[in-house]
Amino acid sequence: MQAFNFKVPTEIVFGRGAEEKVAEKLPTYNAHRVFIVYGGGSIVKSGLLGKIENQLHSAGLFTKSKGGVQPNPRLSWVREAVKEAIDFKADFILAIGGGSVIDSAKATAHGTANPEIDVWSFWNGTVKLEKSLPVGAVLTLSAAGSETSDSAVITNEETGKKAGLNTPFNRPALAFMNPELTFTVPKKQLVCGIADILMHTLERYFTNVKEENALTDRIAEALMTTVIDCSYRAIKNQTDYDAMSEIMYAGTISHCGLTELGRCKDFACHKLGHELSGRFDVTHGASLTAVWGSWAKYVYRDDIPRFAKFAEKVWNIKDGTEEERAQAGIKRTVAYFKEIHMPTNFTELGIGIQSEDVLAKLADSCTAGGTKTVANFHPIDKIAAIEIYKLANH
Ligand code: NZQ
Ligand code: ZN
Repeated sequence: MQAFNFKVPTEIVFGRGAEEKVAEKLPTYNAHRVFIVYGGGSIVKSGLLGKIENQLHSAGLFTKSKGGVQPNPRLSWVREAVKEAIDFKADFILAIGGGSVIDSAKATAHGTANPEIDVWSFWNGTVKLEKSLPVGAVLTLSAAGSETSDSAVITNEETGKKAGLNTPFNRPALAFMNPELTFTVPKKQLVCGIADILMHTLERYFTNVKEENALTDRIAEALMTTVIDCSYRAIKNQTDYDAMSEIMYAGTISHCGLTELGRCKDFACHKLGHELSGRFDVTHGASLTAVWGSWAKYVYRDDIPRFAKFAEKVWNIKDGTEEERAQAGIKRTVAYFKEIHMPTNFTELGIGIQSEDVLAKLADSCTAGGTKTVANFHPIDKIAAIEIYKLANH
């Protein structure tokens, strides 16, 4: 097994009523002046924002709330939020929402703690992040795993670049996770979230690590089968508390790093998908399933036994040669995405068939102008990226 270092400091408050503990918990992280970040208004409509503000005020804390975070969150919103949080003298940033809101809260925390530095400098790698403010997350959508992850993804709308930043400062101090809060998520977001959760483990399952990794593999396989089982129940009945709980729990486990221990990240589909979201503003989970089958077909010959193992452990596919089982596992996964109404090509993604010129531009941006490869199961250079996009381009 390869060496690893694992630190997830986030305190997780999970279960019914978790969000009622916000005012009790925040002061233990020295919060006095709480800058609340939220999205397009679902939490205003549901009354959750008002309830949390009242709770904090009753406990003697000061709050300022800023909504308007969009899916594929924008840099311009973050820059405005940083100014407002500095003026407010915020000492804690509280996100109430899904991944876009939590990522915007993380970026706001970094910008507020470093008022002399433009926040995008941390994302484009010109300045190393050395300090930030504590962030808390009240999760309303199981998907991105941002509630415990070390990542935050922001889109610079001036350039169309959607970029992730990985740093320990991105790990939230606290996450409040009540599955009931996800009952109102629109069906499209529910299935996109389920796909993203699966993909965070898939993209750690298929890597270039060859050493045995029995426990991490079994955790990954259990996570994937649990999510698949519960997805059918959740789609049928979104108020199925147990199914929605398993999905919420899996969302956190899938992206906190646990399914990566002794292994590494590949994240080819995330890199390819971010280019699609940056250019066409498509939903994150949809960008992933739109390319996964094409990626798998393009790369599976690099490690047929691994794909055959996936087919057996996740889909119970036992018949045929190793290569036939590997192929059947890919086919079954793509069929599953279709079953839950996730796109598996560009037409289903809603962007239509793209010209060769656009495919080349996407591939160029994904590989820093063709100067680097991304991922490691099969290192993706510009030519490989074009070929994968071509396979999805129907
Ligand atoms: O904005 P509101 O009105 O709240 O509506 C949101 C939004 O329109 C809605 N929603 C969320 N909870 C709801 C709800 N509607 C009704 N009831 C609720 N309880 O859902 C919509 C989508 O929200 P969003 O936050 O965009 O979704 P998600 O959690 O999937 O986050 C996606 C973002 O996270 C990034 C993605 O790239 C994308 O930008 N990711 C972040 C990661 C990380 N930080 O570790 C890792 C992921 O791989 C991913 O890249
Ligand atoms: Zn993701």
